[in-house]
Amino acid sequence: MAGDEDSVMLLAYKFLVSGDSLDLIPGPYLARWSSLYRPYLYLYGNGPQRLRNLHEKYGPIVRIGPAHVSISDLTATKQLYGVGNRYRKSEFYDVFSPLYTGKKFETLFSTQDSVLHRRLRLAIAPRFSTMGVSRFEPGIDRAIAMFMKKMRDLKHDAISVPQWIEYFSFDLTAETMLGESLGFMETACDIKGIIGGLQPGFFYGATVGQLPWLHPWLLGSQRFLDLLRTLGLPNPTSEIINTVLTKVSSWRSSGKKDDGSLLAWLQAGERKQDINLTDDEIVGHIFNLYWFPNSPHHPELLSLQIYRLAGSGTKANTLIVVLYHLVKHHDVHRKLVEEIDEYYRANTDSEQCASGDVRHLPYLQVVIKESLRMVSAVDIILERIVPPGGSTMLGFHLPQGTNIGATANVMHHHPDVFEDPARFWPERWMKETTSSEKLQRMERAFFAFGRGSRGCIGKPLAMLSMSKFLVTLLRQFDIVWASDAPDWEIKHYFMLRTKGFLVRFKERLH
Ligand code: HEM
Repeated sequence: MAGDEDSVMLLAYKFLVSGDSLDLIPGPYLARWSSLYRPYLYLYGNGPQRLRNLHEKYGPIVRIGPAHVSISDLTATKQLYGVGNRYRKSEFYDVFSPLYTGKKFETLFSTQDSVLHRRLRLAIAPRFSTMGVSRFEPGIDRAIAMFMKKMRDLKHDAISVPQWIEYFSFDLTAETMLGESLGFMETACDIKGIIGGLQPGFFYGATVGQLPWLHPWLLGSQRFLDLLRTLGLPNPTSEIINTVLTKVSSWRSSGKKDDGSLLAWLQAGERKQDINLTDDEIVGHIFNLYWFPNSPHHPELLSLQIYRLAGSGTKANTLIVVLYHLVKHHDVHRKLVEEIDEYYRANTDSEQCASGDVRHLPYLQVVIKESLRMVSAVDIILERIVPPGGSTMLGFHLPQGTNIGATANVMHHHPDVFEDPARFWPERWMKETTSSEKLQRMERAFFAFGRGSRGCIGKPLAMLSMSKFLVTLLRQFDIVWASDAPDWEIKHYFMLRTKGFLVRFKERLH
């Protein structure tokens, strides 16, 4: 199982001399000695694929750094992420904690403190439950209607899917959070460079996140941030926060009623009263607030960070991947359109797709799931730290403090779990095709939304918005590949980046 360069003698010697039990874990030679191996793994945008290659070569547990281990085994991942585990998040997540007046603020996504995490999560959990998210429907519907209108206007043009899906996703986020869009689709432009400006942030997360001790000297340092501000570098985060603050104050002065947005929900004080967030905790949700040292604390901005990063980017990425697979797999596209048409013919002639409709479209759900399996929006190692006392995994002793994690790309392409893993085949998720025992294993390996108590809180919202969008789109348009290049190019820096994915949306004749 070990690589060619790993001589058994050397391992035994090192173990005896240094007593480092990690030396017994197979992996590339350089990774044992240098922390630079991991940023190098992610540097070229193909980190997930390279990590998968390492697992194919070395097996279910691979050493990828002096104190870093990657795993792909189902029992080990259950131990690591399962309910009641004692493995906290690693320092990698520090790059997602903002500085505010020189102080680090914890967020729901980044905190390593389990007590604080519970407080933050419970505060917004009701609104993000499967039932709770249906209240976001008016905002979701408005964003979808605008996208369809725009595509009708542009029906002769080749459309850049990543560009338009990102406009859609950011407007959708604003609709659900603030009750109105930010106008990305309306103006057909990246307002104030917000979307483009986020890309360096993802690159920073993917690379500096692998060397978290560098972060306090870079974006984790108030001095460095002040320097950037003095140099007048573009700052999408400040643009977002400014825009949101303006919306919040106009919302207040207009005395708006409940429009289904998160803002209205928070204003109405429907949040569970027994969980009170301190001002600092609330501010901690406002990612990169350090650009606004004088900003007042705005409880209404709770979860902005969730929305901006996790919400908009992940939904956009996933929709891009689904559309890519639909346009490349005509049989799947045809079958999905048939399912949707048949349902609406038999049940309703409403133009809109309601949350209740989505539950009756099983093929749609497996198409989304299979797309997430093929290319996951979040494809980083979900790092955790071995608790005091150490632990044993896959027969290896892991000392306290070892950084260990799994990643969607590796889990989703496991040949022992997924038959022909490189094939896009939504039917694999259906009980008509796959035995229940096998399905259970596949479900356990499905990692797109993470796992356990730190799993994605936004999954119900993401699934509802993506399903409604796809149903409405496929009822109205056929999709045709329009790039000169035969295929797209993809890169992964924490989030997906694609090039060369153009289509034409042709109105369907009914
Ligand atoms: C298809 C869309 C999405 C995907 C693939 C996705 C993926 C993930 C993954 C893999 C994690 C686990 C991270 C970890 O363990 O380090 C996560 C956590 C999280 N996601 Fe999502 N996400 C999506 C949509 C959303 C949306 C729409 C929101 C906001 C409403 C959101 C908010 C969060 C938050 C707050 C966490 C941290 C939860 C915690 O630690 O308690 N996500 N997401």
